[in-house]
Amino acid sequence: TTLSLTTLALTVLPPSVLAVEYNMPVGVTAVSREIHSLHMIIFWICVVIGIVVFGVMGYAMIKHRKSRGAVSASFHENTRIEILWTAIPLLILVVMAVPATATLKDMYDASESALDVKITGHQWRWQYEYLGEDVAFTSSLATPREQINNTAAKGEHYLLEVDNPLVLPIHRKVRFLTTSADVIHSWWVPDFGVKKDAIPGFINEAWTRIETPGTYRGQCTELCGKDHGFMPVVVEALPEAEFDEWLIARKAEAEAALNDAGRDWSLEELMEKGEKTYATICASCHQPDGQGMPPAFPSLVGSAIVTQDMQAHIDIVVNGKAGTPMAAFADVLSPVELAAVITYERNAWGNDTGELVQPAV
Ligand code: CUA
Repeated sequence: TTLSLTTLALTVLPPSVLAVEYNMPVGVTAVSREIHSLHMIIFWICVVIGIVVFGVMGYAMIKHRKSRGAVSASFHENTRIEILWTAIPLLILVVMAVPATATLKDMYDASESALDVKITGHQWRWQYEYLGEDVAFTSSLATPREQINNTAAKGEHYLLEVDNPLVLPIHRKVRFLTTSADVIHSWWVPDFGVKKDAIPGFINEAWTRIETPGTYRGQCTELCGKDHGFMPVVVEALPEAEFDEWLIARKAEAEAALNDAGRDWSLEELMEKGEKTYATICASCHQPDGQGMPPAFPSLVGSAIVTQDMQAHIDIVVNGKAGTPMAAFADVLSPVELAAVITYERNAWGNDTGELVQPAV
């Protein structure tokens, strides 16, 4: 809603001149379109105000310039002008407030949703829970760091991919409940017109109803630490029937994972699963090589907890450690993932015998 000459120039230039869209996206929901048209209404009001104000100023400066013998006027007050310059801006503000209030009212009406998704921000990934559906997963950066560095070094554009995108149905009202497990994050998808802070100890609410299937992208938009820039949001919007199939498949997977805890796992299977779990959950702070970033994120290599004290190790992973950035992973890790990651860490950094050891988890 700011009047900037650049924006004005870009709006006036034909789109073919511009390879990229600089304006706000129109998006794929009724609310995002509403926000966009509100933005355009206010933008054009500001353009008109700018032209009138600077026009009058320029006219006065040129017409009544000193070289033409102009003498500055001196008077104390002018009631008529004061009433005018109070009334006109007031009227303009009221004119802008009417559509703005209608849009806000729509944005905040999260009632009667068909699907509720709880979104929890973590440093640095998103956790999604489909409430009442027993489906939950985390979504973290899947683009390799080397690829990001290489494309960035060449000045090329790159997209940040995630391992598990949030999957949503089109045409259904989806309510988002955002919160955080550590610091403040913000969940943002411009095409939905949704941006909500994820605040620890607090639940925020937003909603969307997507109209077009596709992949929509956004990212964390609240500075949340070292990897804030690598906390992408990717949403796959599917036609309703496809979404229902996806949800059934995910539920079956979740059930299979539960049953998994009851069967016997080989050491190799645990190591493989543990390595994956470590890379998704632990590596962002303790680093892929386990060296950590002391003192905030201690090194795991040869640490007493990883080499000796199994119970303490499990306790820290499950319950977190108060007063440190170590979060509780009781809700994040399944029993098998917990056993796997402990086995992996113990063998990767707590055991120099060269043979795999099976810790009794
Ligand atoms: Cu999470 Cu910025």
